[in-house]
Amino acid sequence: MYSKKVLQYFLKPKNQGRMKNPDGVGIVGNPTCGDIMTVYIKVNKSKDRETISDIKFETLGCAAAIATSSMVTEIAKGKTLDEAFKITRQDVADELEGLPPLKMHCSNLAEGALKRAIDDYKSKAKKSGSGQTEKAQKAKPKKKTAAKKKSKK
Ligand code: FES
Repeated sequence: MYSKKVLQYFLKPKNQGRMKNPDGVGIVGNPTCGDIMTVYIKVNKSKDRETISDIKFETLGCAAAIATSSMVTEIAKGKTLDEAFKITRQDVADELEGLPPLKMHCSNLAEGALKRAIDDYKSKAKKSGSGQTEKAQKAKPKKKTAAKKKSKK
């Protein structure tokens, strides 16, 4: 039923786990089966190039969902954001030497979660206005509003 490569990526998934302080996070669920995937990305920005320097995933799902999750991280690592955004579920299935037709929908999670992680990074960078992520914004000191209110009394 499954190719050798699918079984290999299911039994020994690469890039599995949570990432500390990611630059972008994407979560996608499959409404049919309830499976869910999270992708975390770190982005390296040099001049005009933004590349995925690190990527991890967490997937609660079937063997095909785990194998496709792992494979999409392998394909996306080192790619520019634009290149990674163009990765399709068919690309992922092809790299895994095919998926059974009934399991093709499982690869939707991989494609969708990666795209959402990239969108998340871009929207955070846009909000900060300088390509900085939310992480950098959080580092700014908080206003001392409570102290100001007290001094007015
Ligand atoms: S059966 Fe849910 S993703 Fe495969």
